[in-house]
Amino acid sequence: MKAAHIAARIASLLPRTMSTSSPSPSLRALQPPQHKGMTALDRSKFALTIPVLAARVRAGDMGAVRKHDLLRGHIVDIPKIRSITPDADPALRRLLLRVADPAELPEPTRAFLADSGIALEPDSVTLGYEHWTASEILNAVIETKEDEDTPSSFTQTGHIAHVNLREEWLPYKAMIGQVILDKIPSIRTVVNKLSEIHAEYRYFDMEVIAGDEDFVATTSESGCTFTFDFAHVYWNSRLHTEHERLISQFAPGSVVADAMAGVGPFAVPAAKRGAYVLGNDLNPESVRWMRENRVRNKVEERLRVTEADARAFIRGAPAEAWRNPFPRSEPLTTRQREREARRRREAAKEAGVVLPREEKAEEETPKPQTVDHYVMNLPDSALEFLDAYAGSFTPLLDEPGFDAAATTLPLIHCHCFTRFLDLDAATRDINERATAALGHPVTTDMDGYLLHLVRRVAPNKDMYCLTFRLPHDVAYKKIV
Ligand SMILES: C[S@@+](CC[C@H](N)C(=O)[O-])C[C@H]1O[C@@H](n2cnc3c(N)ncnc32)[C@H](O)[C@@H]1O
Repeated sequence: MKAAHIAARIASLLPRTMSTSSPSPSLRALQPPQHKGMTALDRSKFALTIPVLAARVRAGDMGAVRKHDLLRGHIVDIPKIRSITPDADPALRRLLLRVADPAELPEPTRAFLADSGIALEPDSVTLGYEHWTASEILNAVIETKEDEDTPSSFTQTGHIAHVNLREEWLPYKAMIGQVILDKIPSIRTVVNKLSEIHAEYRYFDMEVIAGDEDFVATTSESGCTFTFDFAHVYWNSRLHTEHERLISQFAPGSVVADAMAGVGPFAVPAAKRGAYVLGNDLNPESVRWMRENRVRNKVEERLRVTEADARAFIRGAPAEAWRNPFPRSEPLTTRQREREARRRREAAKEAGVVLPREEKAEEETPKPQTVDHYVMNLPDSALEFLDAYAGSFTPLLDEPGFDAAATTLPLIHCHCFTRFLDLDAATRDINERATAALGHPVTTDMDGYLLHLVRRVAPNKDMYCLTFRLPHDVAYKKIV
């Protein structure tokens, strides 16, 4: 067990007022018995008996003695272990102290016990499997190196824990799964992600290593509930900050077109907060669950779901929003509107973004008829889809009442990966690829330009969100 880990464990077992820098010698090496190589879980093998001292106190004095300043920091304080036990003499009770030897107690404490006529006797407490954390048990059986993750680390999605086991941990997989199930009450299923990722729909192959074969998870994010089949759709709880960052920028009444919407982590909360949303995905399973989540979160009126390739969806969204406007549903209350405006201002300040020009209060936009934001979260290849914007607004030029001069073109939020970890190099790399696909220069001085670092996904790979306003020349390009 690693030193820092032992210290943390001792800290969790000691009374809060105790300093962990000088634990009693008998507790210093507190860790479960080591059984390196155990592959079938035997819970009985993790019992550990610790020598302690029992102070034999008259039953009637116990209340005062255990609270005495000179004793308070020395009493055994371990969850699920009783610190007061019966004594052979029915007039006495045993108060367990966390030292094995009277010499470990400070002189004033010893003097107090002697003056009070309280005798000390050797005793012991026994910790069992239930006293150790998942990582303590797994570190007791699996050899790990100092710089490695521990086999007990997992990500939780609803009732599912997903682990990413190294090759050398595979012989222990059933045990790792069982220990996680035993220790985390909200987990019913433990899966190991296999290396295969579905090339198009971006979900992982996985195998159940413990618990129920139930992949339909329910989880919450951005104030909404999401249910989905984790084995057949993409979901990543680590993206919740990014979901929230963009959602906070969508004004109530604005139209958001999410081209790769998955089960709806941008689309559903955006609709919930008053935007009108076109949510699209190519994976029929994602579409099915996005529809389900739309109902569960009561946003049927504000979220329209389609199953199409992102290119066709991007091209068709402006005409769809114009020709088939969303029915006006009940406007937000003034309070909701103010809350949303505050949320957007704070998010924009934090992200260092100037709020988009099209932001208006809902009453000023009686009919949502043009797309205000596109979201493209398919970082592996979304940049390549930028060619679809060429001429996407051209069909509107023939629509009665459409005025290109009075129309604010949408902001495009396009997620991507780069191998360049330095911001300048990443900016050059992403702008170049965006330029090539869009057929128009993408530069830092464009209207609405922002390159936001979402997260490091691997030691040599960063995920960004590139935002810029769709250039007029691209939007109205002549379609031949
Ligand atoms: C990385 S996931 C993101 C899902 C969701 N936006 C989120 O943040 O969780 C990418 C999504 O793109 C979808 N997808 C992949 N290729 C697509 C395409 N050509 N057109 C539309 N959607 C696509 C996948 O099915 C998947 O749901």
